Amino acid sequence: MGLNGHIFVTRRIPEAGLEILRESGAAVTVSQDDEEKGVEMSDLLAGIGGCDVLVPLLTEPLGSEQLEAGPGLLGIAQMAVGYNNIDVDAATELGIPVANTPGVLTETTADFTWAMLMAVARRIPEAHNYMVAGRYKLWGPNLFLGGDIGRGASGRRKVIGIIGYGRIGVAVARRATGFDMEILAHDPFNREGIEADGMADWAELPELLERSDFVTLHPPLTPETRHMIDEAALRRMKSTAYLINAARGPVVDETALVRALSKGWIAGAALDVFEDEPAMAPGLAEQPTAVLIPHIASASHDTRSKMATMAATNAIAHLRRERAPNVVNPEVYDTEAYRRRAGK
Ligand code: DGY
Repeated sequence: MGLNGHIFVTRRIPEAGLEILRESGAAVTVSQDDEEKGVEMSDLLAGIGGCDVLVPLLTEPLGSEQLEAGPGLLGIAQMAVGYNNIDVDAATELGIPVANTPGVLTETTADFTWAMLMAVARRIPEAHNYMVAGRYKLWGPNLFLGGDIGRGASGRRKVIGIIGYGRIGVAVARRATGFDMEILAHDPFNREGIEADGMADWAELPELLERSDFVTLHPPLTPETRHMIDEAALRRMKSTAYLINAARGPVVDETALVRALSKGWIAGAALDVFEDEPAMAPGLAEQPTAVLIPHIASASHDTRSKMATMAATNAIAHLRRERAPNVVNPEVYDTEAYRRRAGK
């Protein structure tokens, strides 16, 4: 392709994406190659300052300070669907297009949500740990009793409450129909979608919390959804209910969740994301009814490769001063600030 310019990739993304970037002809720098290390802030600022396009991960905070460090930045191509680490308003004001990787991880994340739901309800991690610790001496009828997901022996349809009915929430609902569940959904931005698709019934948040056997979270992190599941919300849930979070950690007040688990307000929680990742709230790791996972809901080989190729495609569009296929702030292209950056 023979493109000029410099693409700064903060951490090593899957090879499929790097290959596309390198083949473009642009100079490509991967700042941090060690998968267990983050990018130092000084390296991030220097990298942004010297590049034309930035390819970050959700681990890099990109606020005004970082964005202002890149006077020549033509765009950001994040390898993630979520972009709460980026101050998009500030980017728009500065004339910087921001792109993400929507759609491609929907099914993989919905599968994983289901794996978490089943794992916590049927106590699979606890039972696994019991086996590998050599504690299984004799089968017994009371060993690791859990909650039913389908109708089970009681014949009662279980209720799943889906908060956030976007692509992933809908894909979770589709899976719930296979378990013959009653599906409640709450999403202030998609009431029409809930009412139209025939799978879920709209519910106000308190009703959803009170009636659900499983509450699963799929909203983006915004000021409105931060701590949406707080102490009051947890107290509304049934003591036999489970909470599943594969969205963003701060949607749940993690300290309140530790209280809820230790006092038995709810039966268990499966978390793929944490409020202050990678840290966990004090006491969370000690809860036997918590299933704790290091943010891997979209981590299938295929999906992560596809996310990387999408990010690379967005990056190259930025470098060519073309509209990126997955831009989240399209209004930026009409700003004087962008035209100045792009030399248009
Ligand atoms: C995302 O893409 O936002 C996920 O959290 C990581 O795949």
